[in-house]
Amino acid sequence: MRIACVGGGPAGLYFAISMKLRDPAHQIEVFERNAPGVTFGWGVVFSDLTVDNITTNDPASAEVITREFAHWDDIDVHFRGETITSGGHGFIGIGRKRLLEILQDRARELDVVLHFNSECDPADAMWGDYDLVIASDGINSRFRDAEREAFGVDEDVRANKFVWLGTSKVFEAFTFAFEETEHGWIWAHAYRFAPDASTFIVECSEETWRGFGFDKMSQDESIAACEKLFAKYLDGHRLQSNASHLVGSAAWLNFKRIKCERWSSGNVILLGDAAHTAHFSIGSGTKLALEDAIKLADVLNRKGLSLEAAMDEYVAERNLEVLKLQNSARNSTEWFETLERYTHFEPLQFAYSLLTRSQRISHENLRLRDREWLEGVERWFWKRATAGESNKTAPPMFAPFKLREMEVMNRVTVSPMAMYSAVDGVPNDFHFVHYGERALGGAGLIFTEMTCVSSEGRISPGCTGMWNEDHVAAWKRIVDFVHSQSKAKICLQLGHSGAKGSTRLGWEGNDVPLDEGNWPVMAASDVPWSPVNQVPRPMTRADMDAVRDQFVAAVKMGIECGFDMVELHAAHGYLLAGFITPLQNKRTDEYGGSLENRLRYPLEVFAAMRAAWPKDRPMSVRISATDWAGEDGITSQEALLIGEAFAREGADLIDVSAGQSWAGQQPVYGRMFQTPFSDRIRNEGKLATMAVGNIYEPDHANSILAAGRADLVALARPHLVDPFWTLRAAAQLDYRDVAVPPQYLNGMSQLARNLKREAEMAAALKA
Ligand SMILES: Cc1cc2nc3c(=O)[nH]c(=O)nc-3n(C[C@H](O)[C@H](O)[C@H](O)COP(=O)(O)OP(=O)(O)OC[C@H]3O[C@@H](n4cnc5c(N)ncnc54)[C@H](O)[C@@H]3O)c2cc1C
Ligand SMILES: Cc1cc2nc3c(=O)[nH]c(=O)nc-3n(C[C@H](O)[C@H](O)[C@H](O)COP(=O)(O)O)c2cc1C
Repeated sequence: MRIACVGGGPAGLYFAISMKLRDPAHQIEVFERNAPGVTFGWGVVFSDLTVDNITTNDPASAEVITREFAHWDDIDVHFRGETITSGGHGFIGIGRKRLLEILQDRARELDVVLHFNSECDPADAMWGDYDLVIASDGINSRFRDAEREAFGVDEDVRANKFVWLGTSKVFEAFTFAFEETEHGWIWAHAYRFAPDASTFIVECSEETWRGFGFDKMSQDESIAACEKLFAKYLDGHRLQSNASHLVGSAAWLNFKRIKCERWSSGNVILLGDAAHTAHFSIGSGTKLALEDAIKLADVLNRKGLSLEAAMDEYVAERNLEVLKLQNSARNSTEWFETLERYTHFEPLQFAYSLLTRSQRISHENLRLRDREWLEGVERWFWKRATAGESNKTAPPMFAPFKLREMEVMNRVTVSPMAMYSAVDGVPNDFHFVHYGERALGGAGLIFTEMTCVSSEGRISPGCTGMWNEDHVAAWKRIVDFVHSQSKAKICLQLGHSGAKGSTRLGWEGNDVPLDEGNWPVMAASDVPWSPVNQVPRPMTRADMDAVRDQFVAAVKMGIECGFDMVELHAAHGYLLAGFITPLQNKRTDEYGGSLENRLRYPLEVFAAMRAAWPKDRPMSVRISATDWAGEDGITSQEALLIGEAFAREGADLIDVSAGQSWAGQQPVYGRMFQTPFSDRIRNEGKLATMAVGNIYEPDHANSILAAGRADLVALARPHLVDPFWTLRAAAQLDYRDVAVPPQYLNGMSQLARNLKREAEMAAALKA
């Protein structure tokens, strides 16, 4: 094949090499606008896996590259006068200029034709003479942008400013240096890539950038200002730029995240940064470029594969890899963009939060990297959780937590889950066993399912209720069992179904009206949940008074039952959520319109409940922190305001759920997918929060808690099939000080032994 690679960066050069290695008959030319040896940027970091990949692909170039790698293990985080060092991170890096020299030499050796000082224009007719044109022309690809629609380009220009500098100061550790200034926080990411040189990337918010006047400075002035700001880390070494082609403030960039729906059009194929970018803070752009190149060369040389099939395979495999990395990169980007959310943390927790920001590194990963450091974090966590009383080194999920006078023995909760098994709202033996079993299972706090304050406030005929003495007696039996047979606390979740009422049992069809016996429903407005649901009656003030009083009556019954805590369910599109979300609330009175108005009634209900509930016992509220409807619904910024408003009325904990507030929601699922909302409310609002949503491993729980993203973690579905999730987690983590029912002690120690043996065998096999 006759192939032109536009752009002689890592992607273009390595693709040319990989093609020639597979078939020397290919005629390949690389066109690079710069002269040899002229490039932007300084060092790049790699992972061990990338090294394995390039070694398999081309041992010759890999041998030279790896010989020249700079290695380092530690990460130093400088924050508020302290340096936190954690080890075991195992980085490798090389100068970008040197990497390109090695690749250029290797390409020449394989008879690739290199044209330097060749600015390529996609409009030039010459590209039609090639079988393939590889657009490896980087993040600002002209070849991609010439056909933006054909490639389906999605560009996201991020908020922060950064400048990529170099220095002769040799940083022995990967260094993050955070400085608080009169204009806000500014920080550097620095690492060594050669025996005598380091990369030094300076980053800050646009506000800080303007505050310093970087927007009006020449490049030299910017560099001088950065040298002054970071003088204590530079030991007299200078900072340098090699972006001399960029004038004035243009040396400062905003990172641009690129995604493309399609990676080929006609004879043009996108490769590397031209097709996708990943934020520099996770250092994977070069890795992606090299791995793209290997895969593309593979499929193009596979015998019997048409070009179309080859492209399909290339995109399918690489896109998945890219999406995974872009996901982590987005988490990391957002962490730096919302840095001020975490600057009130103590240095150790700040460093933990930084290290786990992309969610690729978890609590147990950190233990593997540097056990001693991680144990220091655990000790710190326990000390704080016990107001200095405990010196324990143990997983954060087992640390106690106090809300008012209620202390829960650990941070794991059984999330509220409707069981649809009551008759006339009365919990029965199923509920007795269900809740009792989960209380024995080791979680610190058990939530009841949404228990409805009236018969017509039920979701389905099977929902539990709290509106008469039969309910009190049945719930009291359950609460008494929990208190007498376990150390768990139990929280009563109270709610009213609103527009989502009068529907079938969960397993007979979610939110589907009953075949017969439907009862009329009411809500904030006459907006039906879906076209098949009833049109609700908009509530009058008299309805509001009646429902508020029902909530208060239910709270009083909750006191009779002996519940430790009460939660108001104001999430998931039920009655109170229906007031809060603009998707359901279309009122024009003082209960509709602005967020303040939409919150008025739910807050009134909460305040009335709080007044009836004992002062020493806590109350929480469950909210949907987003409607998954973009700006049309509740956003995470509004969720913060909602959390703060309930806290002002006496909510001790915000239970941060999301969605289910309109039938057309577009959630973005994943591990711990709702935790970012809890993180924001906890750390911007300085409120206690509970995170929920696809948290299913002990490692998730510990990572969330130690990083200060929530105070409690709630697990729903994992507890359905495993009431003993917490005890199993304790066995897995070899944590002994957990509340095991004495009847089950033997089983617990056997489980711990077996899991330990299995872990040792797995480790031995891996070694
Ligand atoms: C601050 C910063 C730090 C980074 N740190 C890391 C890191 O630590 N690790 C890592 O793996 N990645 C890092 N990256 C990302 C990395 O630089 C890129 O992902 C990688 O270079 C992509 O390779 P590429 O070949 O696709 O694009 P590029 O390296 O951008 O190469 C494109 C080439 O095309 C040439 N070109 C462009 N247009 C034309 C034209 N019209 N005609 C001719 N030639 C043209 C350019 O001159 C350039 O040489 C970082 C990026 C930034 C911004
Ligand atoms: C069967 C079932 C019933 C649920 N019922 C309730 C409920 O009554 N009240 C509530 O607030 N959330 C309810 N939820 C939502 C869960 O509490 C939780 O927020 C959600 O399942 C996400 O957590 P998970 O990924 O751990 O399952 C229910 C979830 C399930 C699976």
